[in-house]
Amino acid sequence: MSAKPRGSYGIDAPYVPILSAVGAVALVVAAILSSGTSQILYLIGALLLFAQAVIYLRTTLIGKFACWRRVLTELQLDGDESLLDVGCGRGMVLMIAAPLLPTGRLVGVDIWSSHDQSGNSVAAAESNAAANSVADRVRFETADMTDMPFEDESFDVVTASVSIHNIKDPAMRARAIAEIYRVTRPGGRIRIVDLAHADEYRENLASLGAVEPAVAGLGLDGMWGNPFYASKLVSASKPEAAS
Ligand SMILES: C[S@@+](CC[C@H](N)C(=O)[O-])C[C@H]1O[C@@H](n2cnc3c(N)ncnc32)[C@H](O)[C@@H]1O
Repeated sequence: MSAKPRGSYGIDAPYVPILSAVGAVALVVAAILSSGTSQILYLIGALLLFAQAVIYLRTTLIGKFACWRRVLTELQLDGDESLLDVGCGRGMVLMIAAPLLPTGRLVGVDIWSSHDQSGNSVAAAESNAAANSVADRVRFETADMTDMPFEDESFDVVTASVSIHNIKDPAMRARAIAEIYRVTRPGGRIRIVDLAHADEYRENLASLGAVEPAVAGLGLDGMWGNPFYASKLVSASKPEAAS
């Protein structure tokens, strides 16, 4: 089965592959205009930037879908759970999760930044839900992940896909993690995939009392152009309520 649901999901941070490709072309021009060792160095640089653009596009168009299909399948959902995706963009995680939750409830929150994902909007997310025939079970809300409009302990599963790192202030990232933890029900599960700050999220979750917060690599499917920007999976659960 293809990892990609129906619909259109844009390109994450589209300026990154564009800058890499422009840099590669500039280095090829510099190589043409030079000779000897500099020419070879320019060509090597161009090759690296071109490879970076290709690996980045593979991850945003294919790899991250495969990562999330694995992560969500491994949750072994019963099918009736509620799932919140934080910084959902055009709804990739929700569209992969929806067939696993035929009687469940799915909610996405976002501020719809088109700097972070091309063509990002609530209309684009809703159109993807319609394309996958799940519009009746998936709801999108406009909200900042640091202050979410949900009751405490209202979701069985809370996910975030390359969204939290967009918050630059560590204190505000910690607040986003605290919000994710707050809305997770006792016994519920948290799965965060991000290309930066995974250890920070794990520590934040540990200090909130999460059970066994852990970080794992995701291989080539999670690599945003080069090994320095490789997504990691942060997993944790909220303790069961005391009986
Ligand atoms: C790189 S995109 C990823 C979108 C989606 N999770 C995916 O993997 O396809 C990052 C998303 O985070 C959202 N975002 C950034 N800061 C946010 C915030 N403070 N609250 C909610 N969403 C935010 C952006 O609008 C964008 O949709």
